[in-house]
Amino acid sequence: MLVPWAPTGLVPPQLNPLDKPEEQLPPEQGTLPAHKRACWAVLATVLAAMLLAALFTYPLVFLAGSTPSRQDRVQQAPGDACTDPCRITLVESIPEGLTYSSAVPSHPSTFQTWLELIGGAQSSLDIASFYWTLTNADSHTREPSAQQGEQILAELTQLPQRGVAVRVAVSTPKAKQPLDDLEALERSGAAVRKVDMPRLTKGVLHTKFWVVDGTHIYLGSANMDWRSLTQVKELGAAVYNCSCLARDLGKVFEAYWALGVPNATIPEPWPDSYSTIYNAETPLQLQLNGTPASVYLSVSGGPGRA
Ligand SMILES: *[C@@H]1O[C@H](CO)[C@@H](O)[C@H](O)[C@H]1NC(C)=O
Ligand SMILES: *[C@@H]1O[C@H](CO)[C@@H](O)[C@H](O)[C@H]1NC(C)=O
Repeated sequence: MLVPWAPTGLVPPQLNPLDKPEEQLPPEQGTLPAHKRACWAVLATVLAAMLLAALFTYPLVFLAGSTPSRQDRVQQAPGDACTDPCRITLVESIPEGLTYSSAVPSHPSTFQTWLELIGGAQSSLDIASFYWTLTNADSHTREPSAQQGEQILAELTQLPQRGVAVRVAVSTPKAKQPLDDLEALERSGAAVRKVDMPRLTKGVLHTKFWVVDGTHIYLGSANMDWRSLTQVKELGAAVYNCSCLARDLGKVFEAYWALGVPNATIPEPWPDSYSTIYNAETPLQLQLNGTPASVYLSVSGGPGRA
């Protein structure tokens, strides 16, 4: 990391869940048939990616918790299993100059994933973010490895004129943090809301995820920071053609969005529209890469409960 002025999500390589997927299995799953093991491996991958995001998300930590009092009121309708052809892939940023042997699994880059999500967006893009420094302006250098971040910002600012509604929820910037990217987004027609987590929760909005067209999602450790594309190891997951999961994650975004209005307060209780039937007890049943899987999203810290 060249200019470490802000915390960003470093992912220790030993946490990469694809290195040794069988180590992610609970011991009692070791004797399952192969297709079940594959199912557990995919599930472990998803949850591991979310937990990795959690490690760096304070106080809005994605944790395997639930809010039974509210969620128990909503019963899962029978037969409403997700029929979307959900495709999941891990995505990662590997710092420039760091090379691995060809035996190490490689995944699509965060940069390429973001570019494709932007390129494919047709109606909406919602981004939950901690801070924005996609250009070199923050470091007052001409670092070539900022190019990818600068390209992402340039492409994002093209979206509104293409008819794509862009919403950005960002943790209220500290006084010394640059505002250039957020101002460029607003000039382009994107809607930006600063979520005052320091006032609301004495924390920050540390979540990083994207929801595209209510159908595709990205969730991971990468900040909206050029370093997160070329200088910092980052791990995330992209799930495509999965409106069931995107709808659930969208509720988390709506919670942040609601908290981004001036002088917002945390509603108690949250309106039912933010509630979800999916939790540890009743996870979403879906096919991930053609494999039966169970997934739920969870946010702690109060503002988002999904
Ligand atoms: C989503 O599904 C459609 C229809 O099967 C397919 O053409 C498209 O490539 C998929 N999108 C992604 C991003 O995988
Ligand atoms: C927010 O609160 C401040 C301080 O109480 C007040 O001056 C301001 O008018 C409020 N803004 C809105 C939009 O309500």
